Amino acid sequence: MLLRRDLLRMLGLSAALPSLAAAARAVDVAETRRPVVISTWTFGEAANAAAWDVLADGGAALDAVEAGARVPEADPDNHSVGLGGYPDRDGRVTLDASIMDHAGNLGAVACLEDVVHAVSVARRVMEKTPHVLLVGEGALGFALAEGFPRQNLLTPAAEHAWREWLQTARYAPQPNIERSNRYSLPDALPGGERNHDTIGILALDRGGHLAGACTTSGMAFKLHGRVGDSPISGAGLFVDGEVGAASATGVGEECLRVCGSHTVVELMRQGRSPEQACREAVERIARRHRTPRKDLQMAFVALSADGRHGGYSLQPGFAYAVRTSAGTRQVEAPSLT
Ligand code: GLY
Repeated sequence: MLLRRDLLRMLGLSAALPSLAAAARAVDVAETRRPVVISTWTFGEAANAAAWDVLADGGAALDAVEAGARVPEADPDNHSVGLGGYPDRDGRVTLDASIMDHAGNLGAVACLEDVVHAVSVARRVMEKTPHVLLVGEGALGFALAEGFPRQNLLTPAAEHAWREWLQTARYAPQPNIERSNRYSLPDALPGGERNHDTIGILALDRGGHLAGACTTSGMAFKLHGRVGDSPISGAGLFVDGEVGAASATGVGEECLRVCGSHTVVELMRQGRSPEQACREAVERIARRHRTPRKDLQMAFVALSADGRHGGYSLQPGFAYAVRTSAGTRQVEAPSLT
């Protein structure tokens, strides 16, 4: 077998050995970091699998995040995204979503009813209109004109939970606590359900392009017309192709107040690692509250332009899913409390 040093000697390159070795290491790192896709929460694993099918074929990050986000949107058992999402207090399922690419192209919809794939409508807004955000009736009219099918998103299970909730009509955000793939919530919604956990999905493709998407049915039993952070640029999602991408999950109002995902990306621009940037954004949210708020959860995930990723949450129990060529895994993010 031809040893590497023999090959180098034959080529007359022995003097160049150290620099070639360094170059080889750099290539190794790039190969293991690209492509990569990360998604909030452990249910992000299924989204990552769909995104990976695109990325592994050399596909674009933008196509990958859309394909990934469509998975929980179509899952009737996921009560915080798309079909089967819990309705607002009037019994209407309203969806928020956004999608953004490395070049700053962005599309979003808010308070969209009767169309399951809000992320794809958001992409159509990005690609077919001069606008960034369509809401309510306007978003629905646009989606129908674009050929998206109209369908009732209120499943029997979600309607049942809503009717149970109507018994007390108590509205209070609850933190998502997720461990070992199981959710457990003290004082939670009917059936022990969590009441908000957006999917944010970020990808870096083989060509080095970043993209992100974020989609949710928002807070269960919210006021009709309430819009969270997910469709708002810089809050639930932000992508800068030269720096990195970030997405948020949790109580959207808290994220909106600090432009959370934009903050994370700007901190990465200043040299923070993805995890440290997420941590500082969480700290800004925590600083607003004089005493630690046990009833509040907010978490960020971030992916840098060179493929490093991280996450951080306010309360323990937040995990995110990662897919690379090395396989799939879940990362339990550190938390402030
Ligand atoms: N983070 C999703 C929402 O608050 O609507």
